[in-house]
Amino acid sequence: MKVVATKTELKNLLDTFRKEGKSIALVPTMGALHEGHASLVRRAVAENDVTVVSVFVNPTQFNDKNDLQNYPRTLEADCTLLENVGADIVFAPAVEEMYPEEDTRCFSFAPLDTVMEGAFRPGHFNGVAQIVSKLFYAVEPDRSYFGEKDFQQLAIIREMVRQLAIPVEIVGCPIVRENDGLAMSSRNTLLSAEERERALTISRTLFKSLEYANSNSLAETKSFVENAINDTPGLQLEYYQIVDGDTLQEIAEWADCDYAVGCIALFCGKVRLIDNIVYKNNK
Ligand code: PAF
Repeated sequence: MKVVATKTELKNLLDTFRKEGKSIALVPTMGALHEGHASLVRRAVAENDVTVVSVFVNPTQFNDKNDLQNYPRTLEADCTLLENVGADIVFAPAVEEMYPEEDTRCFSFAPLDTVMEGAFRPGHFNGVAQIVSKLFYAVEPDRSYFGEKDFQQLAIIREMVRQLAIPVEIVGCPIVRENDGLAMSSRNTLLSAEERERALTISRTLFKSLEYANSNSLAETKSFVENAINDTPGLQLEYYQIVDGDTLQEIAEWADCDYAVGCIALFCGKVRLIDNIVYKNNK
């Protein structure tokens, strides 16, 4: 496995592979890798000749300075994990390499980016689009892999690729959970033992709500989740929305669409966590 820090080194390596007709995958990450990332990389390795993993904590997608400062950075451990799962190239650039000058591009993915994370984290998806498009231009991957935990991000990246006509196949991969149900996230390492225990309420409530939804209305199911979170000391709900999985707009009744997904964001202490659950997918 090669670790490179510049776009030039990366391009030189990839040009050789491309000349040999090899397919190239990109798994974009912000490091602090866990089994969720490992599952994306394993899939990329299985489906492509060459797998590039980028490790870059992208400053332009953080709307909170403290969040950026506290974001875990563990490049050495990340490289060990990536070597073990068969990645070929790690691209770990410095901020100046990706942003030699300010990126002033403004994207609009309305209405996908005006709701949920887009509403609560202004500028977040613009920053995600800036960095992911730069990575796509640098790597020119045939396929790129993203986790469904960031459900809205996945929809926005698909839309970005459509708008910019970037010839890459976007592959969404299922959420990976800890044995006790907590969705894997780099941010979980920031939770104290007590907060980690409290955070379990999120996945437990979402799974219970699946059963509840069988015999209750959408509004009742939404309240069921909201009440369970609000009744747990130490959890502070930002939003729980049940949306059409394609448009990301809230729906009022189960019959309103074929693809209904519940998306949640909350603070557990000072750590912001997200998760989601699919109620139905008849597409
Ligand atoms: O999902 C993430 O880790 C980031 O948003 C991404 C896609 C790597 C862009 O920085």
